Amino acid sequence: MIDLNQFAHSLDQLEIVHHDHLSCVRKTFRSDLNRAQRNVAKQRHFRPLYTGLARVGAAEVLDFRVHDDRAELLMPYVEGMTGHMFPVHATRNIAHTLSMSLSTLLYAELNDSREEAVELSLFLDKLQVVAQSTTDEELRTLVIRASELLAVLPGQLPFPMGDCHGDLTLSNVILDPLAGVTLIDFLDTYLETPLQDVAKLKQDFVYGWSFRKEPASLGIKAEILCRYHLPQAITQIERMYPQQVWLMTLMALARIAPYVRDLTTKQWLINSLTHCMKG
Ligand SMILES: Nc1ncnc2c1ncn2[C@@H]1O[C@H](COP(=O)(O)OP(=O)(O)OP(=O)(O)O)[C@@H](O)[C@H]1O
Ligand SMILES: [Mg+2]
Repeated sequence: MIDLNQFAHSLDQLEIVHHDHLSCVRKTFRSDLNRAQRNVAKQRHFRPLYTGLARVGAAEVLDFRVHDDRAELLMPYVEGMTGHMFPVHATRNIAHTLSMSLSTLLYAELNDSREEAVELSLFLDKLQVVAQSTTDEELRTLVIRASELLAVLPGQLPFPMGDCHGDLTLSNVILDPLAGVTLIDFLDTYLETPLQDVAKLKQDFVYGWSFRKEPASLGIKAEILCRYHLPQAITQIERMYPQQVWLMTLMALARIAPYVRDLTTKQWLINSLTHCMKG
């Protein structure tokens, strides 16, 4: 029996169950059930896209129930590679399909968005909470330094606002060369903007989040995959919204600080955040 929980970072519990002769995944949420409902609503309402190379869709929501103490989501078990598996299994063709699919997704999100001014104080307040809830002193100091850098930005910035996945890391993408790209683990986030997805993909493609614990040999393969297959949309959207993408990437990295539990992740975060702060 595959234990999916070894791949999960949150406290949500994952089990493989059989339902109508199908192998399914049951995900049990035990905290913030209202947010769980919003996450699942995003997954349910995601409209599939077709890139010519692959279909990009969300894992089907077969059932979703909210109980007093938990919420349970039932979805099909989706075969394919995800997160840390990409550097091991991805051929050039697969990496290309992944990259094109993610670009199509980002362009579609941007196309459906509308521009709105966002106050800088939203980010400053968030970073203050992040610093307060970070127990590791070195990381807390780094988050405070990051928030001081925001002083160079104007008090308001225009953002493309609209639907996004919310936690678009490679561990929430499952790719099967025949079935296409399936998105899981949608997240209701503090700023519903496609730039959140750009930032989360940068966390992987530029900083290697999903591969940070891989041995050096695979780490190099992952770096090559990411360097040569960075979705083109990331570069283009970054040209359109340079300050905003920088800010969202800084926020995405800083917000990991309170959850760091191991030395590899701590070192990875120090290196990534320091690099991003120089950008
Ligand atoms: N429907 C599914 N089909 C196949 N694999 C799945 C499915 N749902 C989850 N998984 C596997 O379990 C892992 C963790 O699932 P998920 O991302 O939903 O949990 P999580 O607790 O939020 O984890 P994280 O914090 O790492 O995002 C996925 O990266 C994937 O490998
Ligand atoms: Mg996940």
